[in-house]
Amino acid sequence: MVLYIGVDVGGTKVLAGEVTRAGTVVRTARRSTPGRRVSVASVEDALTEAVLDVAAGRRIAGVGLAAAGFVDAAGERVMFAPHLPWAGERVRERLSRRWGAPVALDNDANCAAVAETAFGAARGSSSALMITLGTGIGGAIVMAGQLVRGAQGMAGEFGHMQVVPDGRNCECGMSGCWEQYCSGNALVRFARAHLDPGPSILTDLCDARPEQLTGPMVTAAAEQGDPVAGQAFAAIGEWLGVGLGGLTSAFDPELVVVGGGVSAAGDRLLEPARAALARTVVGAGHRTPPQVVGARLGPEAGLIGAALLSRSARWAGSARS
Ligand code: BGC
Ligand code: NA
Ligand code: ZN
Repeated sequence: MVLYIGVDVGGTKVLAGEVTRAGTVVRTARRSTPGRRVSVASVEDALTEAVLDVAAGRRIAGVGLAAAGFVDAAGERVMFAPHLPWAGERVRERLSRRWGAPVALDNDANCAAVAETAFGAARGSSSALMITLGTGIGGAIVMAGQLVRGAQGMAGEFGHMQVVPDGRNCECGMSGCWEQYCSGNALVRFARAHLDPGPSILTDLCDARPEQLTGPMVTAAAEQGDPVAGQAFAAIGEWLGVGLGGLTSAFDPELVVVGGGVSAAGDRLLEPARAALARTVVGAGHRTPPQVVGARLGPEAGLIGAALLSRSARWAGSARS
């Protein structure tokens, strides 16, 4: 079988997977990404290890990279990435040379939108917004069935719209960004701040060490009925809905697809979001709010979409049309 690999390069981890033509993930490998204050080389090494792990000695026909950052309109460079050290590097060409295989590059949320449109929750929808909640917030706009890229390829950076004047500092260099209040990082921050000093499910899961808390622990604790974990999702869900209210006022989509690791919580996250959206969209009461659904491909949407892009010859070469 011809081997196409998709790689999701996020602020916390790299997830690589072999993806079939039908969009099924066959085999995966993961590595951690040590953050923004590390060298470009160390991130590219982690990526390379994950890709070679999936390839397991086979010839690679193409690799698609779903990068958590601003990819230029040509699909060549990552211009800036709040959670990764890339800043203007010609990532596509560099890694293509290093791996001896064609590489396609796009923003991670754009890739997730491509996958959900082809195989998932946005199939058949003409206007949809994709939101991914991971380390930060990723966004993508699909209108008339097409990804809207903007003039410089940077459309859909919803996570850095200011929602709180003089709010929390953001990794992007600004403050009060939406992703500071609604993301995996925000979820963990909430849970740490409200962690019960006494015994609780959440305290058990992190061995009473708040600094050890992770997003998946908060999700697991909420499932088991932990009240603080439940409140954390209610708070993040509320912020999600407030942001979506604004985005719905701007784009009037038929559908909003929510993916990324945090979306594993399902309705615990989406119910408060739907309520806040319905309340904050302009003209509430005179319109039908868009449907808000979880990504059908879950947290693998990004890598599936990236692999899909790498299969299309026009992306695997140089410039994309
Ligand atoms: C970045 C986006 C990315 C998102 C999700 C944001 O902080 O600015 O480019 O899509 O995180 O990874
Ligand atoms: Na995007
Ligand atoms: Zn920001």
